[in-house]
Formats: sequence, structure tokens, C-alpha cells
Amino acid sequence: MNYRHAFHAGNFADVFKHLLLSRILVYLIRKPAPLRFIDTHAGIGFYDLAGTEAAKTGEWRTGIGRLDATKATPAVAALLDPYLAAVGARTTDGRPLFYPGSPGIAQHLLRPGDRLLLCERHPEDAIALKSVMGRDKRVKVLASDGYATLKASVPPPERRGLVLMDPPFEERDEFDTLAMSLASATRKWATGTYAIWYPIKEAAQVAAFQAQMATLGLARHCTIEILRDAAAGAPALRGCGLFVVNPPYLLAEEAALLLPFICGIFDDAALPPFNGAIRTEAGQLTRF
Ligand SMILES: C[S@@+](CC[C@H](N)C(=O)[O-])C[C@H]1O[C@@H](n2cnc3c(N)ncnc32)[C@H](O)[C@@H]1O
Repeated sequence: MNYRHAFHAGNFADVFKHLLLSRILVYLIRKPAPLRFIDTHAGIGFYDLAGTEAAKTGEWRTGIGRLDATKATPAVAALLDPYLAAVGARTTDGRPLFYPGSPGIAQHLLRPGDRLLLCERHPEDAIALKSVMGRDKRVKVLASDGYATLKASVPPPERRGLVLMDPPFEERDEFDTLAMSLASATRKWATGTYAIWYPIKEAAQVAAFQAQMATLGLARHCTIEILRDAAAGAPALRGCGLFVVNPPYLLAEEAALLLPFICGIFDDAALPPFNGAIRTEAGQLTRF
């Protein structure tokens, strides 16, 4: 367990994931009934971007730093607002005081009657997470394996909510583990919304994952990706995706507005440009 998210907090992949996470939660809280958010790989909740790890890579500067510095059209700005509000206070030089991870985003957006179940296997990180979540009675932090906890926790008593699966992909078989875990969870709780984040390094690996997903017989799902061409000089992490089961009805429509904007701000003249793609269960593919 060497992965430390603090090196990458607030980078392009985090902005992509947390922005879509915020859009899913905003949609789910439109209905008054309480919901449960299950974060199988939660991390430490909040990240000090001036801390040793984040300062070493400076990745946040081309992620949340660029987003903060770019003016969006009113339609895009309205979709960004809940996420940007969850990011919270900025320093006078524009750095988020503490960048929220997925637990921080959900803690900000969810309502008094909602519940958050956060799993973090790294014992010290789980202690750190518990401490930053404070005395929030809605939150339960478990220093546990997220896959095992998910299996034991669905369906949740509320019978509605979101599962976020965001592993570090340190293990070679992580895609297979994800697929098996999703298969068993959706068998037990077919109506929940599930969001699975994945890195795009090797196209074949992602294609194999998508093929596995296709065998699960999931009724409604969509895939949202941002990706650089595999040209010479492209970084190993070419992009990332979110596979969403039972997505909110507006998610693909909102992503179609958001992806061109975030791809534009993440672009770097020295690297191949980013492109966005949205694939629905009907197989319909939209590229930007
Ligand atoms: C990519 S980070 C999570 C980031 C977080 N979801 C966010 O968006 O802010 C992955 C985390 O999963 C933890 N982890 C690794 N394997 C795990 C497992 N089997 N169960 C729970 N947590 C695990 C790692 O220690 C790491 O903190």
C-alpha cells in the first residue's frame, strides 16, 4: 500500500472525478428521501496543497488551479458551482486552503438526514480521515477493505444512494477485482448508483474492463472519459474515466457541456490535446 493520494490531490483526474461526483450528488439530493454515500476507497478526506507531497508534484496547479483561474460560460458555471463551493476557501494567492477529496465533497453536499460510509484500508489514513470528518454524526469511517465492506453494506437501509469506487490501481488485477465487486454489489442492490473511476494508461486494459462490464447485464450505465492521444511525449496517465451504473438522467447531458470546458483548461501546448467521450448503454458515443 504505497499509494499516497496527497501527491495527486486536485490534479486533472481529481477535478474530473470530483466534478462528476458533485453532479451525481446534486441530482440525488433533489428528492427529499435520505440517501447513503458509500466511498470504498476514501483517502484522507482533505489535502493540504502546500504540504510536502502536493508541493512536490504541483499537480493541482494544472487541475483545480486552472479551473479556478478560467471563466466559464453561465451554463457551465452553474454546473461547476456546487463543486467549487465544496472546494471551499482559497488563500489570497488562489490556492484552496484544503482540497477536499471525495469524502469532503460528499460531506459538504449531503443533507442532515443522509449518511456517509467511508472505507480506508490504510490504518493511519483512516485515523486521519476520522479526525477531519469531525463530530459529523452522519459519517462512519471504517479502517477496512472497501470491497468487503461494500458487499456487507448493500442494500443500505435507505435503499437509495451512491457508491464511489476509486482504488489506487496498484494491483495488477485491480480492474478484475472492481468488476467482481461491482457484479456482486449490483446483484444485491440493483437500483443503487455506482461510480467507478479508472485511469487510462493502456487502451487494451480499459477495453477489457468495458467488455467485462458489458457481461454484467446492467440495465442503465454510461461511460465518461477524458483522454489524450497516444502520441510521442504523452504522459503514462493519458486520461481517466468514470463508469456509472444507474446514472442520473441528466448526467450525460451535463457532461456534454462540462467535458469540452475542462479538456480545454487541462490542455498543455507541449502535450497532445485532451478529448472527451461519453458512451451510453445504447452504445451511442459522443466525442468532443
Ligand atoms: C485514489 S485514493 C482515493 C481518493 C479519494 N476517493 C478521493 O477522491 O479523494 C485510493 C485510496 O484507497 C486506499 N485503499 C487501497 N486499497 C484499499 C482497499 N482495498 N479498501 C479500502 N481502501 C483502500 C488507499 O490507501 C488510498 O487512500
